[in-house]
Order: sequence, then structure tokens, then C-alpha cells
Amino acid sequence: TDRYCVFGNPIKHSKSPLIHGEFARQTQQPMTYTAVLAPEDGFTDAWRAFVAGGGRGANVTVPFKGDAFALCDTLSYRAKRAQAVNTLIVGGNGRTYGDTTDGIGLVRDLAYHRVPLAGKRVLVLGAGGAVRGILEPLLAEKPSEVVVANRTVAKAEQLAEAFVDLGRIYGGGFASVKGPFDVVINGTSASLSGELPPLPETLFGEGAWAYDMMYGAEPTVFLQWAGPRGAKLLDGLGMLVEQAAESFFAWRNVRPETASVRTLLRQSLN
Ligand code: ATR
Repeated sequence: TDRYCVFGNPIKHSKSPLIHGEFARQTQQPMTYTAVLAPEDGFTDAWRAFVAGGGRGANVTVPFKGDAFALCDTLSYRAKRAQAVNTLIVGGNGRTYGDTTDGIGLVRDLAYHRVPLAGKRVLVLGAGGAVRGILEPLLAEKPSEVVVANRTVAKAEQLAEAFVDLGRIYGGGFASVKGPFDVVINGTSASLSGELPPLPETLFGEGAWAYDMMYGAEPTVFLQWAGPRGAKLLDGLGMLVEQAAESFFAWRNVRPETASVRTLLRQSLN
């Protein structure tokens, strides 16, 4: 039985053990997957101890994605772009390989819901670590343009600059945002505190989608705002399941089916 886990702080409410437990059951993989609380200043030691005890790989969540990035011997292209790692893999030679599956998780969730990206105008709200993690996979879908809008304007500008070699991407403040967009993705942590970035009324084009990378039992404030303005709504639950499926595939070379796990996870929120 191979051992996997998710490291975070806090970690109690993580849904990853539920998701990976279900993937393992469904694909009959001989593995365990647990949640591990690492001390804020002790991630690297926690990872080393896990590997010494036979651990084969792990997911990494807040606040350790940067620490995980720093300790890897080898990194995927998308992890280098994201400057973050959410998936650790112990290689045959004992070296640590790092990947990030958050961005591809978002793109796969959008595909699952038949949300087109190619040739579309996409607005991304926020310019923190969560947004940095999605830009490479997003630009790989060839949208006509990606606009990154952030409260701290300089951060949006710097982020756009860092990805400009991959496509048409612009950074700015909320005030300068000009709709209509086909897809608007909320990657700010404002939802956590029930806040909403100051957005213009005319953000959504005909048939547009509003996507919140957060999720919960109730729609986020961003989705509550977007619904009456005509957007079709998606929260980040599917992204969580799809990023997990990508990590699972990286470890086990088996692709789990996500539909039933989406249902299970949605039920677990109530
Ligand atoms: P994460 O890992 O979730 O991306 P982060 O790197 O701290 O966390 O980034 C948080 C993002 O949410 C930032 O874009 C932040 O805006 P600033 O760069 O201006 O700080 C944004 N954010 C947080 N609270 C917000 C609020 N109340 N209104 C608008 N944006 C907010």
C-alpha cells in the first residue's frame, strides 16, 4: 500500500482525503491518502519525514506551495511558471519532482462544463498566488485576450508582464476594466471575507460565464452578484476535483472519473 497525503496549515477541513479516497476506491489503487498538519515553519521537515516513512507523493496547500516549490529537485514547466507546487512526487531515484495542477484543473473544469476559451475574452480578478497558478494553462487555450485586474494595480501589471510571452495578456486596476467578457474568473480571496471587488455593471457579454475559484455550501458573493447580471455560474468545486484528478494521474498513471466525485463532494457541503 503506497502512502500519499496533503500538507497544509490549517488542514482539518481539507476535502482532498475524501476526493483521493474515492479515486483510489474507484480505480482500485492500493494506496492511502491522509491529511497532515505541518508547522508553519516546518514544511520541509514534515515532507522529509513523510518520505522517510515510505511516502510516495503529496498534495500541498496553503501556506506551503512556495516552500514545496523551493525544495524540489525537478519542476514541471507549469510549476516553474506558477512559481508554486501543489503536487510532490518521489522519483525512483529518491529525488523530488514538483508539479502544479491547479491551472490545468481549472481548464479541465471549464471543458467539463463546455465553456469555450479559444478566441474568447477572459477577465481574471486578482493577482496573487492563486491567479499566477492558472495563467499558463489558461493562455495555452488561446483566448483572444486575458485581462488581469487587481486592487493593487502594480501586481496585475507585473503578472501580465511575466506571461506576455505566452499570449495577449494585460494587467490593470478594476476601474479600467472594460467589458464585455465571455468568461470572468474570480481569483481574489475577497470571497473569503464576503467582499466583492468594485466591478462595472457591464462586465458580461451575451452567454458569458462567471467562475469563482472559491466554493462553499452557498454561492459566493461574486456569483450572487453575477447571476442577476446575466452570467452563467460556476464555483470552484469542479476545479478542486479536477486538480486532484491530475495529481492522482501523476502519481498512479490512472485517470479517475470525476463526475461521481463532484456529486459526492457537493453533498458533503450540506
Ligand atoms: P491567493 O493565494 O489566494 O492568491 P494572495 O496571494 O494573498 O492569496 O492573493 C490574494 C488576492 O486577493 C490578491 O489579488 C488581493 O488583492 P491585492 O493584491 O490588492 O492585495 C485580492 N484580494 C484580497 N482581498 C480583497 C478584497 N477585499 N478586494 C479585492 N481584492 C482582494
